[in-house]
Amino acid sequence: MRVLFVCLGNICRSPTAEGVLRHKLQLAGLASQVDVASAGTGNWHVGQPPDKRTQRAAKLRGYDLSAQRAQHVSAADFSRYELIFAMDNSNLRDLQALQPVSGKAELDLFLRRYEGVKHEVPDPYYDGEQGFEEVLDLIERACDLLVIELKGRL
Ligand code: 4NP
Repeated sequence: MRVLFVCLGNICRSPTAEGVLRHKLQLAGLASQVDVASAGTGNWHVGQPPDKRTQRAAKLRGYDLSAQRAQHVSAADFSRYELIFAMDNSNLRDLQALQPVSGKAELDLFLRRYEGVKHEVPDPYYDGEQGFEEVLDLIERACDLLVIELKGRL
């Protein structure tokens, strides 16, 4: 099973989701059965590690994002991954425009599937510390439910 998280820059939200899901899969004993990755719809930060503020906030909750490097999402990702999750509606629209007719991936807004009330993970890039905490809160909750879904699908 392969899961791809996508945001705009691939330096804040989707690297957080990648790190949180990988950590939770390890705790659940499923790390070897699920590949987790992230990418951005924009290419400005390709090759860069996650934003310092993102790394700091994640580290305080036990997630080490330092080895991650930003990559640009591509049409080929729709045949590499079974599940592709967009962090906000704008990311979802960009992905729908890129999605090949033949792609096997299921594409969805991450929180529509797992959170219920709030449907978008807000972009924290221009926010203060609180924005990064909210990103982590939303992603941690959604990843708990995603691990349960993945267990059922493996
Ligand atoms: P992300 O946040 O999409 O969560 O990685 C952003 C990172 C960079 C920019 C925008 C959003 N940017 O404009 O460079």
